[in-house]
Amino acid sequence: MKDSSPDRVFIFDTTLRDGEQSPGFHLDANSKLRIARQLEKLGVDVIEAGFPISSPGDFEACRRIAREIRGATITALARAVPEDIDAVWGSIKDAEDPQIHIVLSVSDVHIQRKLGMTREQVLRRGAEMVAYARSMCDKVEYSPEDAGRADPAYLVETVETMIGAGATVINIPDTTGYCLPHEFGALVGRVIKEARGSDKALFSVHCHNDLGLAVANTLAAIEAGARRVECTINGIGERAGNTSLEEVVMLLKVRQSKLGLECGVETTQITRASRLVSELTGTPVQPNKAVVGANAFAHASGIHQDGVLKDRLNYEIMKPEDVGLSDSRIVLTARSGRHAFHHRLDRLGVKLAEGGDDAAWQRFLQLADTKKEVTDEDLRKIAAMSETNGHVGNGHPPVTDQLHDHNHVADAMRHLIFG
Ligand code: KIV
Ligand code: ZN
Repeated sequence: MKDSSPDRVFIFDTTLRDGEQSPGFHLDANSKLRIARQLEKLGVDVIEAGFPISSPGDFEACRRIAREIRGATITALARAVPEDIDAVWGSIKDAEDPQIHIVLSVSDVHIQRKLGMTREQVLRRGAEMVAYARSMCDKVEYSPEDAGRADPAYLVETVETMIGAGATVINIPDTTGYCLPHEFGALVGRVIKEARGSDKALFSVHCHNDLGLAVANTLAAIEAGARRVECTINGIGERAGNTSLEEVVMLLKVRQSKLGLECGVETTQITRASRLVSELTGTPVQPNKAVVGANAFAHASGIHQDGVLKDRLNYEIMKPEDVGLSDSRIVLTARSGRHAFHHRLDRLGVKLAEGGDDAAWQRFLQLADTKKEVTDEDLRKIAAMSETNGHVGNGHPPVTDQLHDHNHVADAMRHLIFG
């Protein structure tokens, strides 16, 4: 793209609205506030606090977030009806920088099968509600729901109508996660180019992950000119979730020189945010999840461990410190090599007995074949055994006498190490 002064991409976090509305992710007002405080530390630009009309508890959560959090725009969601908009305004009007977010469908599937309306009726309703919201609040975001499956010409007409009615932000959602990256980029690019008045609005995108393309679609939209992205911590959200905040933020950081873009997120707060959301929702993060999964900075195979121990650049494209971790993890498994084995012993400050190196390594391999991960405690025991040269003095024969079959070895090793 470009390489001079980077463009700013604004980060809109919807963990507390789209993330929280998915099954099993419910959060009470106190938990929402704790997450909002962490989002404040993370430095996101916009926090979507909830859907205030949905319950008194959510209204109260939005109100507390609006009153307490500083430095971010606070928004909440309304359908295109006055009661919803009143509830949003009632809950966020005390924010330092409030914004009303209105959603109304734009695809024919939704217009006909969900709303039972005509395109003209939808346009009129949307414009009236935008104007109503603007009569209270200077910032109004309009989301034409299911834009990814809409007729592009009608989407353009919708966007220019809403900008004409006073919308300050247009958010293009791929509500069902249906689009391919090049299609979504082209759609967003077309709307920005063709909708009259588009220079007066900020363009945002909101992608779902049903086909695993949420981040790719978001990137395509940014490259087409969108400058705000809606995302959630750990990628939580309806069905397969939303664009993951940590992935899009680290993508902008790691590939900054190629993309020429930046955002204001304090990336060292990412791991803390991920763990807090996981803890408060009671939902673990999948281990291989990009950026925040337990394995994202873990190296287990001998080839990779050797490479990382020689120079992290060999296998790491981002530093664990940049996301708030203290270090990468060298995990000892049956696929590890001697370099990693000795590295971990050194880190533990454990010395092998003179001449006990080979025997200790063999014991390590035998044990590693019996379990998923060899722990620090296992290593200490292996090292202690190296002093007895295979005889542990507990009545069992030496390990080497028992190398008859795999199960036998496994049992013997468990026995020797765990008694
Ligand atoms: O997925 C969606 O379309 C939404 C809108 C409210 C932006 O969540
Ligand atoms: Zn959504």
